[in-house]
Amino acid sequence: MNIAILSRDENIYSTCRIKQEGRERGHRMYIIDHTQCNIVIENKRPKLYFKNQLIDHIDAIIPRIGANVTDIGASVIQHFESMGVFTTLPSSVLINSRNKMKSLQILSQEKVSIPNTCYVNQLEDTKILEKVLGNPPWILKIPEGTQGIGVILSETLAAAESTIETLLKLNTKVIVQEFIKESKATDIRVLVVNGKILGAMKRTASSGFRSNLHRGATGTPVELTKKEEKLALKATKILGLNIAGVDIIQSNKGSLILEVNSSPGLEGIEDNTPKNVAKEIIIATEDLFSAYN
Ligand SMILES: Nc1ncnc2c1ncn2[C@@H]1O[C@H](COP(=O)(O)OP(=O)(O)O)[C@@H](O)[C@H]1O
Ligand SMILES: [Mg+2]
Repeated sequence: MNIAILSRDENIYSTCRIKQEGRERGHRMYIIDHTQCNIVIENKRPKLYFKNQLIDHIDAIIPRIGANVTDIGASVIQHFESMGVFTTLPSSVLINSRNKMKSLQILSQEKVSIPNTCYVNQLEDTKILEKVLGNPPWILKIPEGTQGIGVILSETLAAAESTIETLLKLNTKVIVQEFIKESKATDIRVLVVNGKILGAMKRTASSGFRSNLHRGATGTPVELTKKEEKLALKATKILGLNIAGVDIIQSNKGSLILEVNSSPGLEGIEDNTPKNVAKEIIIATEDLFSAYN
C-alpha cells in the first residue's frame, strides 16, 4: 500500500517508528506535512497538493495532528476523505476528541466515569462551582490544551476566579474539574489500537501534579484491572478512535477517564511495554483499509 503519515516533523520518534514498521511490512511510506498542503476544490473534484506536487497515489493516511494545528489538520483529513482515501482518524473524530469539553460530554452521555466537571463560559458561572464541585482545590483546563500545558491547579476560590477571569479575557473557555488528590500526581496511559489494548504505563509526575511525560514524568509498566481495560476500550469506541492514548486517573470513586488522545506519542509506551506498537498500528491500518474497501 501507499501509506502517508500526516506529520509536521519526520524526525520525531512516533513518525519515524511508524514509517520504519510500514517499510518493514512492504508498504511505500510517505510523510506529508498537513500544514504545507494546498486544498483545491475544482469543479467539485477535490485535489490536494503537497509542496506543489499533486497527491493522487495515497491509499491510506495515518494522521498525527498536533493540538496547535487541529483545524488545518482536520481540513486536510477531510479532503483525503472526499478523495476516497482511508484514514485511521476521521476528521470529525479528531475534532470531537481534541476538544476536552466535547469529548467529556460525549463520554458522560454514554455513562463513562469522568471527574465532576464544569464548563465556564462567563465569570458569573463561577458562582455555581462550589455547589457542583465542592470546595477547592480545583483543576482548571483550557479545552484544547495538551502535554499538560493549560492545566492549572487552583487552591482557592479567589485564585480560581482570577485565573478564570484572565482566561475568559483571552477568549479561552475554561473547564473546571474536581482535583483528584488521591491519585498522588499519577495517572495511567493506555494504548488502544483497533479495539485492542497494546499496553499501559503508570506515569508519575517528577514535581507538581501533572504526570505528562513531556513535563518530565516517569513511566513504569502497570497491570490494568478488568474494569480499567473495559473503561479504556469503551471510551475509545465511543469516540470512534482507531488509535488512542487513554488517560485514566485512579480516584476514591474508582478509575475515571481524564481524556482520550487521538495522536498518542509512542516513545514512552514502547519503552514500558513489550509490544511493537508502531507495527501494530501498521497492521491495524492494513486491516481497517481492507474492511473499508
Ligand atoms: N482532575 C484532575 N485531578 C488530578 N490531576 C489531574 C486532573 N486532571 C488532570 N490532572 C493531571 O494533569 C495531567 C494533564 O491533564 P490532561 O487532562 O490529561 O491534559 P493534557 O491534554 O494537557 O495531557 C494529567 O495527566 C494528570 O496528571
Ligand atoms: Mg493528558
